[in-house]
Amino acid sequence: MPHQTFVLNGKSVTVDVEDDVRLLWVIRDVIGLTGPKYGCGINVCKACTSHLNGKAFNPCAVRVADVGDSDEVTTIEGLADTVDDDLHPMQHAWLEYDVAQCGYCQPGQIMAAVATVRKARAEGRGITEADLDGIRNVCRCGTYSRIREAIKAGAAAM
Ligand code: FES
Ligand code: FES
Repeated sequence: MPHQTFVLNGKSVTVDVEDDVRLLWVIRDVIGLTGPKYGCGINVCKACTSHLNGKAFNPCAVRVADVGDSDEVTTIEGLADTVDDDLHPMQHAWLEYDVAQCGYCQPGQIMAAVATVRKARAEGRGITEADLDGIRNVCRCGTYSRIREAIKAGAAAM
């Protein structure tokens, strides 16, 4: 079985899985981190949203062999470590606005939110309503209005 190496939440990991196994199954079923959720498996629902080298991506749509040794994958479990705190400011905002209902989509929502704010910052601007419209993560509980408020608050604290 081929060896697959990448950086997960700041630590290099190596697993023995076939090249075409999708990264989401490696993270969840082989490594045992279940923060990134399985919804559709076809890059539509965005429940698995995590970060690849700081940008949002969907590991259900990426073959493990396509992630390099030095590529940095961050899941919701590692998000707070990126700011060296118990929780990331976006997670604090999520609690403040009591966003979650069933919770299933929420790790992906938070990871998408952080990546959206980072992208806007990299472009030298704040987040806009259009940025919020561009987040396509599905929430079957309909928490969208609270998500939008929490992202604005989280962005202000980042
Ligand atoms: S499970 Fe990855 S996008 Fe739906
Ligand atoms: S909180 Fe239930 S799916 Fe979003």
